[in-house]
Amino acid sequence: MPAPAEIDLERVICRLADLEQTGARAFRLGGGDWPLRGFVVRCGAAVRGYVNHCPHAGHPLDLQPHHFLTPDRVLIVCASHGALFDKESGLCIAGPCSGQLLRSIALNVMDGLILLAPEVDIAALVAATS
Ligand code: FES
Repeated sequence: MPAPAEIDLERVICRLADLEQTGARAFRLGGGDWPLRGFVVRCGAAVRGYVNHCPHAGHPLDLQPHHFLTPDRVLIVCASHGALFDKESGLCIAGPCSGQLLRSIALNVMDGLILLAPEVDIAALVAATS
């Protein structure tokens, strides 16, 4: 029997079960004044992660904490000017940044926890969206 994989606690975002209530959840990871600000969203059985930075005007998408989805939970919505994004791809399908993409974040799910994938360079992601 293989040894259980070790979990890097500094890369834990939240529990999978934390997405039940709103379907999405904001997170901050990394130290200093400029942590990585992102969110995770449930896509059927899968989970997707994105930087919380709208390609339109660079605002965070959620004005109310953890509110990233339309009321029917089908699409991601930016609270600032209403851009709508596909949950699976992060593609803006309507609104002022139509055709642009949210910056995705690679994730792993392990033992009911959502983690940043080991290859994610937090500093590089922060630099690319600040
Ligand atoms: S900042 Fe998101 S739609 Fe304008």
